Amino acid sequence: MLCFVGSLVFAQKEFKGKAISPDLFGIFYEDISYAADGGLYAELLQNRSFEYSPSDKDNWSNESNWQPLTAWEFETDGFGYGSLSIETKSPIHSNNPHYVVVEIEEEGKEGIGLINHGYDGITVKAGETYNFSAFLKPLTKDPFEIVVQLRDENGKKIAVDSFSTNSTNWKNYKRTLTASAASNQASLVILIKTKGKLALDMISLFPQKTFKNRPNGMRDDLAQVIADLHPKFMRFPGGCVVHGDGLGNMYRWQNTIGPLEERVEIRNIWGYRQSMGLGYFEYFQFCEDIGAKPVPVVAAGVSCQNSGGTWRIPETSQKCFPLEDMDAYIQEVLDLVEYANGSATSKFGSKRAEAGHPKPFDVEYLGIGNEDKITPEFEERFKLIEAAVKAKYPEITIIGTVGPGPDGDDYEKGWALANELDLEVVDEHFYETPEWFLNNLNRYDDYDRTQAKVYIGEFAAHDSKRSNNLRTALAEAAFMTSIERNGDLVSMVSYAPLLARKDHISWSPDLIYFTDEAVLKTANYYVQKLFSNYAGDVYYDGIFSFKEETEKELVSTSCVKQSLTGDIVLKLVNTNEYPITIIIDLSPFRIKGSQATKIILTGDALAENTFENPDAVVPQESSMQVKSSFLYEVPANSLTVIRTSGK
Ligand code: AHR
Repeated sequence: MLCFVGSLVFAQKEFKGKAISPDLFGIFYEDISYAADGGLYAELLQNRSFEYSPSDKDNWSNESNWQPLTAWEFETDGFGYGSLSIETKSPIHSNNPHYVVVEIEEEGKEGIGLINHGYDGITVKAGETYNFSAFLKPLTKDPFEIVVQLRDENGKKIAVDSFSTNSTNWKNYKRTLTASAASNQASLVILIKTKGKLALDMISLFPQKTFKNRPNGMRDDLAQVIADLHPKFMRFPGGCVVHGDGLGNMYRWQNTIGPLEERVEIRNIWGYRQSMGLGYFEYFQFCEDIGAKPVPVVAAGVSCQNSGGTWRIPETSQKCFPLEDMDAYIQEVLDLVEYANGSATSKFGSKRAEAGHPKPFDVEYLGIGNEDKITPEFEERFKLIEAAVKAKYPEITIIGTVGPGPDGDDYEKGWALANELDLEVVDEHFYETPEWFLNNLNRYDDYDRTQAKVYIGEFAAHDSKRSNNLRTALAEAAFMTSIERNGDLVSMVSYAPLLARKDHISWSPDLIYFTDEAVLKTANYYVQKLFSNYAGDVYYDGIFSFKEETEKELVSTSCVKQSLTGDIVLKLVNTNEYPITIIIDLSPFRIKGSQATKIILTGDALAENTFENPDAVVPQESSMQVKSSFLYEVPANSLTVIRTSGK
């Protein structure tokens, strides 16, 4: 007779489902392991602004010592000579103080200049066009004759263009280069063929083809693999990157918008540098492009408690803004909301409009703090920010933080603060063993439903090798069935970290690994993808049973409905080394017999996708016949998703 969201009502028997969060599965993007520069952000040159500094590199990271000419080489192979220097006297903008000066004493046959090898060599594709851009300023007479080239690994020219300067001030010159051949070890060469002194800065090479063809956009293949997750939301920009390594390293959103040459680069807490080419505008734009709700996170006026690497010693090192500076900081947070949601004529909304997006980005959530130590100083600052945001923007849902682990002092204090302030959502994090996940499948069953909802902002199963094998992925899958069961309380969940560049990994495991040429989807990626692509908005109990009482709980299950289509989705996770038969009763849905889609992710528990063998663990799709009630043998070490029509 009646059918409505949250329940199915039948004439003889009432069979009610439970409404669960429609935004359950999303992603957490942090610039860690070269996720931005050298990663998702499509810029191909490294250190385009000559701002690298020895202090970017932490002594625990594996990068070599850095300085403003890192990633650049002096080029004189046409028998010319001269010199390079780094200067700061008259930069394009004070936020971008260093630039290079080339003094050409003898230009030789080819000119002299600079080479950039990108990140581990530049990868270019035959026939594809690349946008070259540079700011140049003649320091002696104008014009200067400039040649730009792409060279392959053998030094062969695969694209060439030339132009002349025509201004004595800093001026941006743009050219296009089309590669005549492919190379994964290409370099960009700039040669100056006129005697004199020329200043250069913000030298950039960008593929013309970016994700959704956005200028200053994202690497197409990597962005597509993320988009394929169909995440409901994206939390960004961190993580520890948000609260930073000391107060000077805190992520300040307003330093990341506007012209690229005016953005404020900073050291990345993970031991390298952030160009901020991927800044707040690009984050919001990317969220829109992949259909994910943006979930920005701001620091709570305190730095990471591990600032200075103090996780290695018992003392903590949380630094706090002086209270007299908090008004200015709070204004910054309010300005962020205006930047995202304000009208195109408002002070900060107009900056968004200038960047090409007059319409608001419709931010619903704002995270304050990340895994912070819940000290009295933190609490005081958190309360000030929370109250100010709520007073001005009551429609924004604030997400609080409850420490770095699933329990303990910060967890307790974070939850107490959330209850005191009546917060709507708190952010729980756990990086635990696969066994922990399997032993905690009931974690949320008894959570107090009158308290804040839970956003599991970071989680991953860590085995002793921190690997991405099927065993860890299935532990996560089993846990995620319990999240669906508790989807009335757990409103959002995101695996962490999302991205890591091979050979520059700050943290493992990660969901997706990449080189310039390849994108590696882990078994864990496929689990996230299956849950996200086959999410529902109503959860049903009582669908699964076992022949033997002793088998109860050997398989983790969930049953959800997608109200829009009426489709029923079953998920079954078997982490045992043997198959288990389960009884599936679909009679409440009045399914008599129909075709269903079945997707199975299975293999050896220790199987792992690698760059050499990327398809060791991939989902296999087939169709199957389902009946009102039927037996299903859940394979050993597997996740099965069955989607049938509920109509
Ligand atoms: O995901 C990696 C790091 O783990 C995040 O930056 C931090 O929030 C957590 O400790």
